[in-house]
Amino acid sequence: MSANVYPVSEETAKGALIDKAKYDAMYKQSVEDPEGFWGEHGKRIDWIKPFTKVKNVSYDPHNLYIKWYEDGTLNVSANCLDRHLATRGDQTAIIFEGDDPSVSEHITYKDLHERVSRFANALKTMGVNKGDRVVIYLPMIPAAAVSMLACARIGAIHSIVFGGFSPEALAGRIEDCGAKVVITADEGLRGGRGVALKRNADEALSHPGVKSVEKLVVVKHTGKDIPWNDARDVWYQDICDAASPDCPPTEVNAEDPLFVLYTSGSTGKPKGVLHTSGGYLVYASMTHQYVFDYHDGDVYWCTADVGWVTGHSYIVYGPLANGATTLMFEGVPSYPDASRFWKVCEKHKVNIFYTAPTAIRALMREGAEWVEKADLSSLRILGSVGEPINPEAWEWYHEHVGKRKCPIVDTWWQTETGGILITPLPGATDLKPGSATLPFFGVEPALLDHEGNELEGATEGSLVIKYSWPGQMRTVYGDHERFIQTYFSTFAGVYTTGDGARRDEDGYYWITGRVDDVINVSGHRMGTAEVESALVAHPKVAEAAVVGVPHDIKGQGIYAYVTLNADEEPSDELRGELVKWVRKEIGPIASPDYIQWSPGLPKTRSGKIMRRILRKIAANEYDQLGDTSTLADPGVVDDLIDNRQNR
Ligand code: PRX
Repeated sequence: MSANVYPVSEETAKGALIDKAKYDAMYKQSVEDPEGFWGEHGKRIDWIKPFTKVKNVSYDPHNLYIKWYEDGTLNVSANCLDRHLATRGDQTAIIFEGDDPSVSEHITYKDLHERVSRFANALKTMGVNKGDRVVIYLPMIPAAAVSMLACARIGAIHSIVFGGFSPEALAGRIEDCGAKVVITADEGLRGGRGVALKRNADEALSHPGVKSVEKLVVVKHTGKDIPWNDARDVWYQDICDAASPDCPPTEVNAEDPLFVLYTSGSTGKPKGVLHTSGGYLVYASMTHQYVFDYHDGDVYWCTADVGWVTGHSYIVYGPLANGATTLMFEGVPSYPDASRFWKVCEKHKVNIFYTAPTAIRALMREGAEWVEKADLSSLRILGSVGEPINPEAWEWYHEHVGKRKCPIVDTWWQTETGGILITPLPGATDLKPGSATLPFFGVEPALLDHEGNELEGATEGSLVIKYSWPGQMRTVYGDHERFIQTYFSTFAGVYTTGDGARRDEDGYYWITGRVDDVINVSGHRMGTAEVESALVAHPKVAEAAVVGVPHDIKGQGIYAYVTLNADEEPSDELRGELVKWVRKEIGPIASPDYIQWSPGLPKTRSGKIMRRILRKIAANEYDQLGDTSTLADPGVVDDLIDNRQNR
């Protein structure tokens, strides 16, 4: 833990929306009178029919519901587009920066409004109605934002699948949500290389379980030749050109779903996290404004992909609801070279820059000289998200990118939370490298021991959130029971995050990582159970156990212990085959870093795999295995230690 403290500088405090006194006063009001607080801030968005009820929440597992602004009606796309037309129609809404550094485009609010309206009409013509599901499998191009907003405009529910997921993974998500339409592109582009999105989509749609899809909309992006199915496929550009630019926004209830986004848990298949319209938008826009100290005219860049929740809340919905200029970047930090991020900041005079620790660590390794190649004087605020940022990376980011004048907001949150829950506010919070610091308005974190007792003062425990906030997920799509089981059954009466945290003597929170079987690889969340089930689906594999292992750049790597069927011989070739297999089943982000052949796994007498032991061996901490006396066969441990891969 770092001992450095960086107080709010005078420079930052001067222009900031929130200073220390204001944070204290607003936080106090938000927790003492949540109804009053959220009633007032709920008005930051435009309602068609204003709400009269603010909050209606029960965490009782037998009768669990979460409702905010439940009698209000609105349209999310009208909030992100129409309401800005009179005042900022000609302002840039989206700056698109292509993978190829010579490609960029400025899209005004007026233009974006027209694109969204046309595509929304086209979707209607294809029979997409309010409540229908649309899967989006696109690269980071403007059509991704247009597709999201077009769904929102007609009350359809979008579900974005990250372009790095395999056809198998895409098929599973399409099947689970029963999508009527899938939107993809001929190809994506990353670091100069094509990503075969249409081919993957074709493969996913030929999956026997996928029966709901009527149309595949294809954006022409690279112009690559692709196979075509006349009965099913349509070109995005053609249907938009043919559609009317006039599409009145559909009135939806605050609690009507806006999107489903699949994320990994500690067990089973990825779950469809469902977010609704009113509370989500209030929360995304409010956090975007205050956490990034967003001022009118700022150029804001979040480097995430829209396939993750960060892209939903902080590339599209939050910034556009606030009338911001938001940058969408198609490429990768290392292409054409390691100065790309900084060149983009210079080119578009970015004021607020939000990225992930894994990217910072990778760029740090390349050396500060790449940063010095660009003029970063426009930068004012830096952000971090996705995993704990190690103090060394924080200091490097602060010194070389922020030139010691930009505060870093280390934002802790989750797909489930819809928006940022624990974070510094630039003008209000003294910073400690590695700490996400203090709760946002209306958020009451607590630390619990194993029995669920709340711990006071400086301590460490399971991080839970005591009451609801408007951006909270409402259910798991199609499986409300799983929602209750996952988040509200471990501890009674609170939302369980699955993370552990330490609170210091100043009340600052330090997230220590997951306490469940979820791992975080380069900021991508992965269930160990998902990788295990991919491995055991291979015909030569009898059993597999997967754990996270510390990794310099990725934060965590994937370490797999594999037991082969009795008649199979281990070989390097088979190791390669298994890596390829997992990439096919899930996607490249799930590739195991290590595969250890394990004739036996450490199990209790009741057959439960003791992952604690496997984690220690993978991390080379086999001298700290703790008690192994409850193992059915303690002898397997020696063999695992002798054959460990991460020496
Ligand atoms: O473990 C925490 C980690 O990422 C998890 C959530 O992952 P996901 O739903 O994919 O959302 C990522 C983007 C919001 C959390 O349970 N995490 C996220 N942000 C931080 C973090 N861990 C430490 N510090 C953070 N700032």
